[in-house]
Amino acid sequence: MNNSKRTATCGELTAKNINQTVTLNGWIHRCRNHGGLLFFDLRDRYGITQIVIDESQELTRLAGEIKMEYCVAAVGTVRARPAGMINKNIPTGEIEIALTSLEILNTAPPLPFMVDGEEDTSETIRLKHRYLDLRSEAMKNRLKLRHEAAWSVRRFLTEQGFWEIETPTFIKSTPEGARDYLVPSRTNPGKFYALPQSPQLYKQILMAGGTDRYYQIARCYRDEDARGDRQPEFTQIDLEMSFADREDILALLEEMMSRAFREVLGQELTRPFPRLSWRQAMDSYGTDKPDLRCPLQFADFSPFAAKADFGVFKAALESGGVIKAMVVKNAAEHFSRKKISELEEEAKKKGAKGLAWFKLTSDGLDGGIGKFFNEQAPAIREELGAAPGDIILLMADQWLTAVEALGAVRSKISRNLELAKPGEFQFCWIIDFPLFEPNPETGGWAPVHHMFSMPQKQYHNTMEENPAAVIGDLYDLVLNGNELGSGSVRIHNPELQSRVFDIVGFPREEAQRRFGFLLEALRYGAPPHAGFAVGFDRLVMLMSGAQSLREVIAFPKNTQGISPLDGSPSQVDAAQLEELRLKSTAEDDRNGAHPAENPFVPKQN
Ligand code: AMO
Ligand code: AMP
Repeated sequence: MNNSKRTATCGELTAKNINQTVTLNGWIHRCRNHGGLLFFDLRDRYGITQIVIDESQELTRLAGEIKMEYCVAAVGTVRARPAGMINKNIPTGEIEIALTSLEILNTAPPLPFMVDGEEDTSETIRLKHRYLDLRSEAMKNRLKLRHEAAWSVRRFLTEQGFWEIETPTFIKSTPEGARDYLVPSRTNPGKFYALPQSPQLYKQILMAGGTDRYYQIARCYRDEDARGDRQPEFTQIDLEMSFADREDILALLEEMMSRAFREVLGQELTRPFPRLSWRQAMDSYGTDKPDLRCPLQFADFSPFAAKADFGVFKAALESGGVIKAMVVKNAAEHFSRKKISELEEEAKKKGAKGLAWFKLTSDGLDGGIGKFFNEQAPAIREELGAAPGDIILLMADQWLTAVEALGAVRSKISRNLELAKPGEFQFCWIIDFPLFEPNPETGGWAPVHHMFSMPQKQYHNTMEENPAAVIGDLYDLVLNGNELGSGSVRIHNPELQSRVFDIVGFPREEAQRRFGFLLEALRYGAPPHAGFAVGFDRLVMLMSGAQSLREVIAFPKNTQGISPLDGSPSQVDAAQLEELRLKSTAEDDRNGAHPAENPFVPKQN
């Protein structure tokens, strides 16, 4: 019998266990010497237990060898802590273990950082020694929350009749928006698999296969620059339903989110989630992912501008533009000229020409362009619901530029004035997205979501005439200003699908070559179907209040796409490349001989 094996965890012993002899396994968390009495805290995933070595014991010598993060087995007797020493903050705070024997299971060199120590340890050091970082209370709690959220979702979807089905991670390269990661095939020289950007095509083919309800907690890979809310590999709660429409998907997702927030955080969400059309969201908040915790909204200022003699606004109206206004309540004092010009810079990044403003006083309008609108002050107060002490910010431009620029100003004000309460969860749906947007690279059209989303019925006959006007059966789920997920009703008719490929500029042969297998599946009686994917890392990030996806992924990549833990990506042996019939030109690139793109080219034989 192994007598160093634990009989209890470090989180479970209480006054009920007094006088029991126990063995604990864990890591040395802290050591203290109180007037000859040696204490150490032993930590495992379940908690922390205080161990005491009485001066008299021989153990003191052994304890002298112990250092932080050594892994040990401690045997001892549970006893009550003296009255003054009780710690009400931890479940084991009433007791301590009087040590009778100690075995060092493994040692540790001096630590690069203390577990649960300084807040400002650099992220690179934390990621390099992730095994130490994962021992911290904060990381442990986030991994736990992640597991609980996944478990809640799995339970819920299983109850709803969804089957979890794995789709391949080596697939045909099919453009979905981002760049593909490629995997060379040794057995098919010169050919490549791609890692899926999402299981999109396969879940649609599952519907063609009669699966009816599919889900997967799926790994997705996108070769794009990693940012705070993006990782090159990330996880989706991916799902698809046959014979379903938008309402089925929205109801399912609301129930799934409500269950997860209730089960994991004990939070009740307000339902139904508000719905905004893309147009409304842009018009009122200047973004398709508004943070509804922030109460600021835009109003139409065009009628006032039409009656006043302010040239900039008049000119904007004459060229078919709009004037949007945003009232910030009781904040006039906060907006010094310097603050306003900072906001103006923010707006200019979005293409605005300027940012106009005035403040409301009990006498009328003050500062900025107030003098042009003084006569209309009563009507402005009435229409915009503004009062003395408020400031009104104004933007004149073509509609999209005006709302996006004022949207950037709104976000900055919300951050500066802390208008969005932490810990509050405000979901909303954005529906009725345009199906196509201009593609600046080709001068043609690009899908707003992906190419498999259904145009709304009223556009089916005429979509080619004006692609910009086509509204799709698309929907996004937004939480606190983050795009949490998106989905759509899919095209299940191969002819309609081919027309969409035509509009986004895929010649038919090219579409056949790349998506032929999907088009083929659609031909054989594919059912109407619809689906959705939630960004699971983002969900966990928001649920846990973390600031970055890297805080909720056990082994993330940094912003350069590098894993400091294992050093990937890394060079490989020449022999490995040889076997794959690949030749790296990266060396040449560094010497400036080749453009930096596409470091791998099939080897010429
Ligand atoms: P989409 O591309 O919108 O849709 O992705 C769905 C959700 O996945 C999350 N997400 C990411 N999370 C972390 N890092 C990334 N690089 C990243 N990219 C996306 C976002 C996003 O809302 N197949 C479709 C879904 C469908 O139509 O069913 C899809 O992948 O939260
Ligand atoms: P000007 O008459 O050029 O001095 O501009 C007066 C104010 O209007 C300044 O605060 C500018 O930032 C602002 N402004 C200029 N163009 C625009 C615009 N298109 N929309 C909103 N404000 C503007």
